[in-house]
Amino acid sequence: MNPTLPLHLQVNGQAVACEADASRSLLEMLREDLGLTGTHQGCDTAQCGACTVLVNQRPVKSCNRLALQCAGQAVQTIEGVAPADGPLHPVQEALRAHHGLQCGFCTPGLVMRLIALLDEGAAPDEAAVREALSGNLCRCTGYEGIVQAALSLLQPLARDPA
Ligand code: FES
Ligand code: FES
Repeated sequence: MNPTLPLHLQVNGQAVACEADASRSLLEMLREDLGLTGTHQGCDTAQCGACTVLVNQRPVKSCNRLALQCAGQAVQTIEGVAPADGPLHPVQEALRAHHGLQCGFCTPGLVMRLIALLDEGAAPDEAAVREALSGNLCRCTGYEGIVQAALSLLQPLARDPA
């Protein structure tokens, strides 16, 4: 068994102290050590985007990031985007309103990617949204509802920049 090292980071706003060996992925740590199973494992080869989380507010495929690389960083998972008994995050609400939620396997990763997209000041056009989503594969849709959800959030921001 590989030796483990202590690891301190923030997950969903909470300080976390755990241990990880040099080969443990952030995805394994989140799901197996912290029980945050809303982050899904799809390809495990950095292609499908199902495992997307935010690290210091940037989208990261957690299957492709070592846990130890996240020392001292702030990780946000789907569990952290809205209270369990409260209102949905605006991205979740837009996906619901535009029928962008289907089987749900890819959905947590898409939500995290779209949250990052809003922060990036992306152009409010379909090409920019589809480019941003090119690393998040959804096997059961034509992406139409997902793209429309993203545009419904980006277009008001472009008209009324903060
Ligand atoms: S499981 Fe990480 S990109 Fe597919
Ligand atoms: S809703 Fe994404 S794979 Fe089905």
